[in-house]
Amino acid sequence: MTERPVLQVHEASKRFGAVVALDGVSLHVARGEVLALLGDNGAGKSTLVKAISGVHRLDSGSIVLDGEDVTDAGAMAVRAHGVETVYQDLALFDNLDPAANFFAGRELAGPSWLPRGLRFMRHRQMADRTRELLERLQVSLPDLDATVALMSGGQRQAVAVARAVAFSSTLVILDEPTAALGLRESARVLDLVRRLKESGVAVVLVSHSMDHVMAVADRALVLRRGRAVGETVPTADNHAQLVAWIVGAAGSRPL
Ligand SMILES: Nc1ncnc2c1ncn2[C@@H]1O[C@H](COP(=O)(O)OP(=O)(O)OP(=O)(O)O)[C@@H](O)[C@H]1O
Ligand SMILES: [Mg+2]
Repeated sequence: MTERPVLQVHEASKRFGAVVALDGVSLHVARGEVLALLGDNGAGKSTLVKAISGVHRLDSGSIVLDGEDVTDAGAMAVRAHGVETVYQDLALFDNLDPAANFFAGRELAGPSWLPRGLRFMRHRQMADRTRELLERLQVSLPDLDATVALMSGGQRQAVAVARAVAFSSTLVILDEPTAALGLRESARVLDLVRRLKESGVAVVLVSHSMDHVMAVADRALVLRRGRAVGETVPTADNHAQLVAWIVGAAGSRPL
């Protein structure tokens, strides 16, 4: 590889009490590359996602983004590097509408001491921008003014993915982004992943769908019981090998 990877994880380990969630996992992703993370339930995928995005601190190991060590930097600093994450448990604010969710923490709405009229204008701006983004992503919501608590799982997921795509510049991490989506919506999310790739953004995609992984990923890394147990190009020819790594069939052992 000639170019420096956007993301390098080295020997990441993390325990929750007696549970070893991550046990010395290393990976790298380059600009315009899609890395799939595969593994059974409880394999450590979401823990790795949250460690990279700065939500969890590692017990040991390191995380380097664009050449800068962010191992202990925290979620805000990681976001400041142009990293956007769609969490499996979809961290949206239930009491806010999609536009407010889109811009949460980005303060386009301005502080509450602003005159009401001005605050309203900013909110209109955010709503217009959100509508434009969702249209671009071909995501249709029946009512953009409804709070997200009233939206379906798929609609919430669509808003979360759209937000990540809109604000990312370096790396997008998607933790099972198609899990709650129908066929058509899943296809759109996969299209978005391809577009991110084309625009030079690095993507880490967690998925249980081998079809989705084969459709968009350049490489697939398999986790099992917190360890990286195999890595290959996800093709039809390698399908059986990937499944064997996922289920821990005889003959597969930690990398
Ligand atoms: N906050 C937490 N506190 C305690 N244990 C946790 C916590 N988060 C994860 N774990 C444990 O760490 C292990 C790895 O969990 P993780 O959520 O990373 O798995 P996963 O690969 O994302 O699984 P799934 O495919 O079901 O989403 C599991 O045994 C889980 O119970
Ligand atoms: Mg998970």
